[in-house]
Amino acid sequence: MKDLVFNLIENEKVRQSEGLELIPSENYVSADVLSAMGSILTNKYSEGYPSFEGVPGWEEKKITNEILPNYRYYGGQPNVDRIERLAIDRACRLFHADHANVQPHSGAQANNAVYFAWLEPGDTVLGMSLPAGGHLTHGAPVTLSAHIYNFVAYGVTKDGDIDYDDLEKKALENEPKIILVGYSAFMKIPDFERVVEIRDRLVKKTGKEVMLMADMAHVAGLIAGGVHPNPLDFGFNVMTTTTHKTLRGPRGGLILSKGNVASPLKRPEKTLDNIPILIDRAVFPGTQGGPLEHIVAAKAVSFGEALKPEFKDYAKRIVENAKALADELKKLGFVLQGDGTENHLILVNVKESFGFDGKIYEKALDMIGLTLNANSLPIDKGGAFRPSGVRLGTPAITTRGLGIKEMKELASWMKTVADICVKAKTEENLTKFDKELTTLREEVKTLATSFPVPGI
Ligand SMILES: Cc1ncc(COP(=O)(O)O)c(C=O)c1O
Repeated sequence: MKDLVFNLIENEKVRQSEGLELIPSENYVSADVLSAMGSILTNKYSEGYPSFEGVPGWEEKKITNEILPNYRYYGGQPNVDRIERLAIDRACRLFHADHANVQPHSGAQANNAVYFAWLEPGDTVLGMSLPAGGHLTHGAPVTLSAHIYNFVAYGVTKDGDIDYDDLEKKALENEPKIILVGYSAFMKIPDFERVVEIRDRLVKKTGKEVMLMADMAHVAGLIAGGVHPNPLDFGFNVMTTTTHKTLRGPRGGLILSKGNVASPLKRPEKTLDNIPILIDRAVFPGTQGGPLEHIVAAKAVSFGEALKPEFKDYAKRIVENAKALADELKKLGFVLQGDGTENHLILVNVKESFGFDGKIYEKALDMIGLTLNANSLPIDKGGAFRPSGVRLGTPAITTRGLGIKEMKELASWMKTVADICVKAKTEENLTKFDKELTTLREEVKTLATSFPVPGI
């Protein structure tokens, strides 16, 4: 008999097929990405890195068992080396980087490795505060990195944009070794040029090198698709990302950088030019053990997909859908942080719109098959457990093929559920509205099942 786990996987397939995923950090991977993730590459240990120095003419399609030069601590690498090299080359092409480390197990691991590569304990990082939209790994006190380094936070303005004046003031006052631009709940396009200018003024003041780091975990797919500026094109030194959000690859992390690419075996001097080597050493052996080569293979497949012209169209449609959904929501009385969106993500102030908090709304929408998450707003009396907002986005539904027409329908369901929450007042009372919620659930299911989930 099959393990119970497989029954639960079957259940999850039904949940994903019959509902619509609006969490902006989620997506549906292709059947090819799934197949690489579920492959026998999981059997292989490959601590270290591939190195194709002195192998001119190495090319993607060449399949041989010839052992290529590497810095690995285990034998048997002819295929794994080539797979990881493919992932690295494709990532560099996608993001205009000199170097890519494709081994981080997650976005958090990627960020921690960059900190470890460049900082000494007690050094300062200037990043966006968590309530303003930054990520936990940008200095939340509950994290390991916040115990090691000194994080200073900048915020956002009333209209939801980065407060660049605050950023500049804090940079000049605190003299950080890293200025970090990145976020999990932010709907504007950052002004990378302005951040570079601020960095230059800081360097002029101190005469010391300052790393510019961008955590583009949410928008990497938009960058790859050419609908969002690329921080590496503006003089940023490092860009980290997850591979599973808009980029539509397997769950994992990725670090891209500019600088010299050379052997990670020799300990390099801590200079910005040496960042790629410092990062390789910081990922392995600095913060991780053996890479997950089945995931690296799936990353390579997804980067290959993102290099195709169809991906540009996908990225464009994500943003079009997000803007259309934001417009429809506004027409129906929803108050949006930043008054709309410039990317894939919408932050709704449900408290100001309808008087209830994000938690009851998240639960009620879940009951009809629409999944999103309650989220704090920049100034939020409700705190992390009863936040006043919800965060939603369009990467996953755009993968399934939903377009502008369906955004209208989505907004209308969201308004009907908001009206139910106004009447219910508490999560417990939602069951009193079972009939209405069940009818809506059937409507969502009918639409969702007409847009199949890839790989199911
Ligand atoms: C901006 C940002 N950085 C890092 C991460 C961490 O990624 P992971 O969950 O893969 O560790 C996230 C995840 O949501 C994120 O939004």
